[in-house]
Amino acid sequence: MSDDLERALLKAVEAEDPALSAMAAVLLRRGGKRLRPMLLSHCAAFGSAAAGEVLQAAAAIELLHVASLQHDDVMDQAAIRRGGPSANSLWGNATAALVGTHIVARAMALLAKLPPDVVAHVADATFVVCTGQLRETEHAYDLDLDVDTHVEITRMKTASLFELPCRIGAVLAGLHPAQIEALSQFGRDLGMAFQLVDDLLDFEGETETLGKPARADLARGIYSYPVLLTLRSESGPALRTALGAGGSGELAADLIRATGALGLTHELAQEYCVRARRALHLFSDTPIRSALLALSDVVAVRDQ
Ligand code: IPE
Ligand code: IPE
Ligand code: MG
Ligand code: MG
Repeated sequence: MSDDLERALLKAVEAEDPALSAMAAVLLRRGGKRLRPMLLSHCAAFGSAAAGEVLQAAAAIELLHVASLQHDDVMDQAAIRRGGPSANSLWGNATAALVGTHIVARAMALLAKLPPDVVAHVADATFVVCTGQLRETEHAYDLDLDVDTHVEITRMKTASLFELPCRIGAVLAGLHPAQIEALSQFGRDLGMAFQLVDDLLDFEGETETLGKPARADLARGIYSYPVLLTLRSESGPALRTALGAGGSGELAADLIRATGALGLTHELAQEYCVRARRALHLFSDTPIRSALLALSDVVAVRDQ
């Protein structure tokens, strides 16, 4: 599907205004892992979905993901995305927001050709992502953020956009309700693992490999799982002081590393991957099930 997907994405963002098309195309040509379309097409392959519908739905979800990244970069004032300058650093916040909205509009045009229940799922998930992003902003620099709230924010801002393509693929394939729920659960747990690893990569990864700024979360007051664990450990008071001091975050990062919180976060990510795999027990051992299992292996050990 990959060439077809790239073509569908570029075609979708063509607009009467050449500047709008060109700006959207710049971002889409950067690539990215295309995980969400992959999940959708794999899940659709469990049944008999129409290839055209799968492609349109996969393109629409990737467009929504791209728009969410663009909005996220405006919120984070991030300068790099997918290995190049972010939309906000290329064209400024106002234009980046406009291009993001254009991309959402083009996603809606693709969705209009799909069954209404699919569109309803997309609308629900989009709302959940926005709420998660807003809640994260509300809790920025919140040293008392509780772990359950953080996990719920992760589910909303990221896992929902992993659950969605799995659910839609399953719906388009005409699977039974229990199978649809199992694949949705797979996506949700995989998404949780994915964001936990993303948060770890902010500590352990490099900007060049990630294609986006490393060591950015602490400075923005985004206190992810390892931070919250450390705040509740013996090193909690020292970390509170380090975070409150407004330094570069190096001291805080050292304290977090020293408590072993990164290892514990890796373990939690692995647990979510195990849960994701468990959700696939319902399905017989086919190449497509193996492909999803392989994906759940990759998520926990990736470096970008
Ligand atoms: C980045 O998602 C946003 C998060 C949910 C952490 P991806 O890591 O899937 O981004 P691309 O699509 O590969 O650029
Ligand atoms: C962003 O999470 C999730 C969404 C875009 C909804 P992050 O803020 O961790 O994503 P990156 O690290 O900037 O890709
Ligand atoms: Mg971000
Ligand atoms: Mg991140």
